[in-house]
This record gives sequence, C-alpha cells and structure tokens, in this order.
Amino acid sequence: MYINFWYPMTTTEELGDQPLQVQALGQAFVVFRDTGGNARCLSNTCSHRGGSLAGGKIKGDCIQCPYHGWEFDGDGACRKIPSLGKDGKVPGRSRVDAYPVEERYGIVFAFLGDLPEAERPPIIPVPEEGQAGWRPTVVDYPIKGNYERSIENGIDPAHNEFVHDTHGFSGENDDYNVGELREVPSEWGHGFWHTFNAPPLPEGEMRKLREQSGDLEVGTGHHGPNQVWTYIHPNPAYHFHQYLFERPIDEENTHIYLLCMRNCMLEAEHDELMNERNTYVAMQDVTIIQNLHPVLTPNSNTKEFMVPSDKCILMYREWLRDWDAKGWRIDSDEARRNEKKVAYAIPSPQRREVKGWVLDPVPLIDGARATEKVRAAH
Ligand code: FES
Ligand SMILES: [Fe+2]
Repeated sequence: MYINFWYPMTTTEELGDQPLQVQALGQAFVVFRDTGGNARCLSNTCSHRGGSLAGGKIKGDCIQCPYHGWEFDGDGACRKIPSLGKDGKVPGRSRVDAYPVEERYGIVFAFLGDLPEAERPPIIPVPEEGQAGWRPTVVDYPIKGNYERSIENGIDPAHNEFVHDTHGFSGENDDYNVGELREVPSEWGHGFWHTFNAPPLPEGEMRKLREQSGDLEVGTGHHGPNQVWTYIHPNPAYHFHQYLFERPIDEENTHIYLLCMRNCMLEAEHDELMNERNTYVAMQDVTIIQNLHPVLTPNSNTKEFMVPSDKCILMYREWLRDWDAKGWRIDSDEARRNEKKVAYAIPSPQRREVKGWVLDPVPLIDGARATEKVRAAH
C-alpha cells in the first residue's frame, strides 16, 4: 500500500450530515461535511487521548471528539479545548492531519500523503465527464482481497475468456488465444488495446449494440497503484468507458468504486441494467481474487510463471517498484506489529511545513532498501 495517491473514501450519496469513519491503507479517517457542504477528511485519532473523531458530532465547520469535546476544523486545526475554559489558548501541536479532498463523479476522494499540490499524481482523468452524449453510473462493493491483485485482474487480457461468460466462451472456443497487445504508455501507468472474440450481447436493449458474436475492441490499463481504465467498444459507434477506483482498506480488504460512462442507451431507465451487468461481471472477478494464493502479490516474479499475456501485469509491478524506490510504500508489517501500542497517521501535506505533531507518521519502507531487496530476489 502506498501513500501519495488519491483514494476513493465514500460516495456523495453516502456522505450525509453525519461523520463517517473510513478505513484506508490500514488506518482510520473521518470524513464529514463543513457548513459550506465541502467534504473534509482528517486522521480519525484525536490528538488528546486517542478518541475516535468519527464517533463525535459535527459542530459548525468542526468535528467534535466524543470523549472530551475537543473541536477540529477541516484543516485539522484544534479550535477548542473545552477543559481550558472559554478563553483557553489552544496549543498548535494539538492539530491532527488533514487531507486534500476532491469530490468528483459522485465519489469523494482524499489525497493520502504529504506531497505538495504541484507534485501530486492526479486522479485518473475522465474526459467523458459532463460531456453531452455520455451518461454515468456508479456501483461500489467491498471485496476480501488485496487491491494489487484486484488491479492486476482488471488489466489482465487473458481472464475474460474463462471468468466472464459475458465476454468470452468459458474456455469452449478452440481457436482462442490472446492476440496482439497494442501498448499505451501514460504518465502514471501502462495499458494496451486488444481485439478479442466475444459472444453476442444479452437479449433486449443491449442486443442492438452487437447482435452476433465477433470481435470486440477493448483497451485497459492502470493509473497509479489503485485505478484502472477499461474502454469497451462493442462496435465502432457504441462505447462503454469504465473507471475502477480502489481503496485498500488494509492489505487483505479492498473497497471498489466502478464508474461506467456510456454513449448509448442514454435514458435513465437503462441505469439499472448497466448496474446489474457491471455487478454481475464484477462478482465473477471477486470470486477469483478472493481465492488467490498468496493473498499479496509475490515480491519476486519467479514465484509465479508468467507468459506473454501477463506483460501488463509485469509492467504494473515495475511501476510499483518505482513507487517503492520513492519511499512511498507503507511498512505494513511494522505498522501491524505495533498497532496495539502506537496510533499512526498517514503524513499529510502540512507536515512538510509545520513541525510538532502528536501522532507518529506511519512507517514507510526506505526506498533504497526496497530497491536492494528487489535486486536480491532476482
Ligand atoms: S480524546 Fe478527544 S477530546 Fe479527549
Ligand atoms: Fe474481469
């Protein structure tokens, strides 16, 4: 799991007028709305004596800790310590970490890391957003599986034939192989386009988009460690552009948000069909991911036997090594070893500017050491 990327924390629909506790990267956060309706995200551990802020109340622009009533604003500053009395001076060190938030596509994202704004890897762009002729739907679901394994599933060209009877022939196609992968590099990831043979679309509205089995154009790739784009073109005119945003709850659990943009069947009445079909396909992937061994991606590629259709997986893992080298990987073993005794916080951008924080930053794997370990494994 990595700091310094945007993670989907909740949905616009789910974030009402009550604070929400959200787990991400093995840590707890509180997400709430201020009086302007803006979503805010703080580390959930109160700097006083460890109260869970999400269990408290929203008071104006602040979240009030349920234990002794300290109030923290959306920038993490403590605004009130009731036990000091009305005129009590609040010490600066009582602040908690606050994370940049963006609400887009009906999803509330938080940047969990300390990079200054200009250096932050962006949320994957969705060029169809707000464009005439496109309609979005969003579904989200939890899975008991590691997010890297899930991203690898999303960018894997060879599983459709076997895992999805919607896209392949369940292994019954004698002429099956994975054809040419046309690579698409990007600034924060790697992808490819390819053509594969797929069965007809289901009876009803969708059948009009492609009536017979035949070639389907599909592009897919990852963006950062936790986002995937998948473009499905059943024919040259009709496009489904899907975006997966994944939040590692911890190393073994993930929450997935799937945004599907379509340029056909634009009426609202088709949303349900879209969601049903996307959920049906997603659950087929979930069954596979939840049963993989080991749970985490092995740290050496020699512990799995890769073939040419796994090229995208290998490229993804190379990107992960790059982010390891930057020192962005959380030392989850160390964090877990200490979790009963130490409350950690994901370092926020403000830590680069102000010294003096109550909580320790989550332990990270030293970039040089991570690179050394990879060399030794090969
Ligand atoms: S623990 Fe939060 S106010 Fe005391
Ligand atoms: Fe899949």
